[in-house]
Amino acid sequence: MRTVLLDGFGGPEVLRVAEAPRPKPGPGQIRVRVRASALNRGDTVQRSGGYPLPPGVTNPGLGIEVAGEVEACGSGVTTLKPGQRVFGLVAGGGYAEACLMEEGMAVLMPDGWSFVEAAATPEAFITAHESLVELGGLRAGQSVLIHAGGSGIGTACIQVARAVGARPFAIVGSEEKRRRCLELGAEGAVLRSEGNFAREVLTLTGGAGVDVVEDFVGGAALDRNLSVLKFGGCLLLVGLLDGMSADLDLRQVVMRRLQLKGMALRPLSPEQRVAVTRRFSERWLPELAAGRVRPIIDSTFPLERVADAHRRMESNASFGKIVLEL
Ligand SMILES: NC(=O)c1ccc[n+]([C@@H]2O[C@H](COP(=O)([O-])OP(=O)(O)OC[C@H]3O[C@@H](n4cnc5c(N)ncnc54)[C@H](OP(=O)(O)O)[C@@H]3O)[C@@H](O)[C@H]2O)c1
Repeated sequence: MRTVLLDGFGGPEVLRVAEAPRPKPGPGQIRVRVRASALNRGDTVQRSGGYPLPPGVTNPGLGIEVAGEVEACGSGVTTLKPGQRVFGLVAGGGYAEACLMEEGMAVLMPDGWSFVEAAATPEAFITAHESLVELGGLRAGQSVLIHAGGSGIGTACIQVARAVGARPFAIVGSEEKRRRCLELGAEGAVLRSEGNFAREVLTLTGGAGVDVVEDFVGGAALDRNLSVLKFGGCLLLVGLLDGMSADLDLRQVVMRRLQLKGMALRPLSPEQRVAVTRRFSERWLPELAAGRVRPIIDSTFPLERVADAHRRMESNASFGKIVLEL
């Protein structure tokens, strides 16, 4: 089968399409004939050598979300059979014609869905749900600031926030992304080049600030993120695009009763990963199937152009998900 290998760590040029044997499903696993696999920002970090794999993750291949048909079932698999159309998160190796998936991670594709849509869904909507709803407790009437509003995850967060009745505000890198975030449901959007996003967000919220911040920036934005939170607000640290550490004046956390919560999907235990997948399916699959929320597709690339797909992601020009088609 065709797969993507790394010629060492580095830029997109280290990505190489090569032949490899099809993996054999172990107990409780299925092999998926991959039809589409979506990119995630973490893939580019892994490619560059900056992403230490969490303990227990043994598949170093790139690609953590796929859609395709069940091709083979390992021993003990009872809920799936060959030919069914499934999508979901995998431990790695998704940039390939076939990859292994734990039975409990597979979600049946809604009728009428394309493989591209299905592959673009799980990481974005699971992350949005787990962070905003489960950790952040976001609910109707509350406001939320979403960094990188045009990212794959950000576009899901804007829709999830709207769907729970909250008021999303976004930070973006261009006028075009601002327009598209507003179309998607953001109540306001701020250009990150405008300097002090905190001042802009306070203006947009009539000085009130927000209940929750969904942050993908990390250290460089910490002070400003805390300053836009209302009393008792919650900062969700979900990505570290700019700064893995920061000085923090703890007084504002104490005096304003703020909460800081962190989240990553990949280090979760197999049982926790199945649980987050189930929560996503129960809450969002009906909404997705009915078209009330949807994955936003920026572009698709054939597997052979995987390096161009990574270049597009790293250009920061994409709006929504970039998907490899096989
Ligand atoms: N914790 C988890 O479980 C989890 C799961 C999935 C993803 N994530 C995180 O979620 C974030 C988005 O991932 P994705 O795959 O959706 O990314 P993506 O589609 O590649 O979008 C990332 C966007 O972030 C903005 N950006 C880039 N560098 C930035 C910087 N230094 N400061 C501020 N904004 C910057 C750019 O948009 P603009 O130019 O428009 O600002 C870029 O297009 C990443 O940080 C990723 O690590 C976390």
